Amino acid sequence: MTSSERAGTGFRFADPVLAEVVQSGLDEVEGILREVVRSEFNPVMETSLHLVEAGGKRIRPLFTILAAQFGPSWDRESVVKAAAVVELTHLATLYHDDVMDEATMRRGAASANAKWNNSIAILTGDYLFAHASTLVADLGTEAARTISRTFGELVTGQMRETMGPREGEDPVEHYLTTIAEKTGSLIATAARFGGMFSDATEEQVAALQAYGDVIGSAFQISDDVIDIASPPEESGKTPGTDLREGVKTLPMLYALQDEPDSRLARLLAAPIEDDAEVLEALELLRASSGLQRARKTLDEYADRARSCLAVLPEGRARDALESVSEYVVSRSR
Ligand code: IPE
Ligand code: IPE
Ligand code: MG
Ligand code: MG
Repeated sequence: MTSSERAGTGFRFADPVLAEVVQSGLDEVEGILREVVRSEFNPVMETSLHLVEAGGKRIRPLFTILAAQFGPSWDRESVVKAAAVVELTHLATLYHDDVMDEATMRRGAASANAKWNNSIAILTGDYLFAHASTLVADLGTEAARTISRTFGELVTGQMRETMGPREGEDPVEHYLTTIAEKTGSLIATAARFGGMFSDATEEQVAALQAYGDVIGSAFQISDDVIDIASPPEESGKTPGTDLREGVKTLPMLYALQDEPDSRLARLLAAPIEDDAEVLEALELLRASSGLQRARKTLDEYADRARSCLAVLPEGRARDALESVSEYVVSRSR
C-alpha cells in the first residue's frame, strides 16, 4: 500500500488518489490564505503572514476537503474557499488565544504577542477575521450565518474557560462544554461546509457536522494531553502553558478527583509561576492516573466520532475520516 504524508498534519493517507485530491485542495487553500492577507499597509501583512507561514497542521481545511468527497459533485472553488474561511477563522483565534494564555511560542515560532505585543496580536486576529468574513460572503448567506454562529460559539467557549465553573457546577462537565464550544464548533463547521458544497444530503451534512463536533473535542483533549506530555519540538508550543495560566484541563481535573490531598493537588490550586514548580507538576501529571483517565476519555470520544460516520457511504473518504480519528488519538501517545 502506498501512503504519503500530507500538509504537515502527520496524517498519512492509505489511498494515493485521495491523497492527491486532498493535497491539491490544500495547495489552493494555501494560495488563498496568502492572497487574502495582502495589504497596502505592510505591517499588517507582515504580522498576518507570520503565523500563516510558520506552518500549522491545516487540519480544519483537511476536514472540509475530506467531507466534500461524500456529495455527488463537489464545487471545488467553493469547497476550497470554505476551507480557507475556516482556517482564517482558526488563525484569528490563535492570535487572540496566545494573548489570553500569555503564550510565547506558536507553530514552532514566537507567538505574535511575544514577537510584537498584545495590541498587535489582537489587531492581527481581528484583521484575519475580517478577511474570513469577506471571503465567506462569496459563499452565500447560509455559509455566512454558519460562520458567524460558530464565531459566537468560539467566543462563548473562551469566555466559559476564562470564567471557570460556576459554584456547584461539575468541573469536568464545564470542561467538556468549553472544549465543544472553543474547538468542536469550528471543526464541526469545517466538516459541514464540505458536505454543503458537495451537495450531500441533509442527513449526511448533519452526520459530518456531528462527526466534526465530537472529533473536535477529541482533538482538544489530545492537545491538552500534549501540553503535559510532549516536548516543544513536537508540539511547536511550550509545555505547561495551561499550568502557568491556571487553566484546568481534563488530566488535571481527573488528578484532582483521584488525589485531592496530594502535592500535585496543592500545585494545581493556583496558576504556577515558578519554573521549577511547573516542571514538578508536569512530572507528577505525567505519572498520574488523571493523565491515563484523560486518554481513556479521548478514546471514547474518538469511538463516538467514528460511530457518527455510520450513515455515510463506505469508501475511501469514510476510511480516511476514520483514520483521522485514530490520528487524533495517536498524536498524543
Ligand atoms: C490549536 O489548533 C488549538 C486547538 C484547538 C487545540 P491546532 O493544533 O490545529 O493548531 P495548528 O493550526 O496546527 O497550529
Ligand atoms: C485552543 O485553546 C482553542 C482555540 C480556539 C484557540 P488552547 O489555548 O488550549 O490551545 P493551544 O494549546 O494554545 O493551541
Ligand atoms: Mg492557548
Ligand atoms: Mg487558550
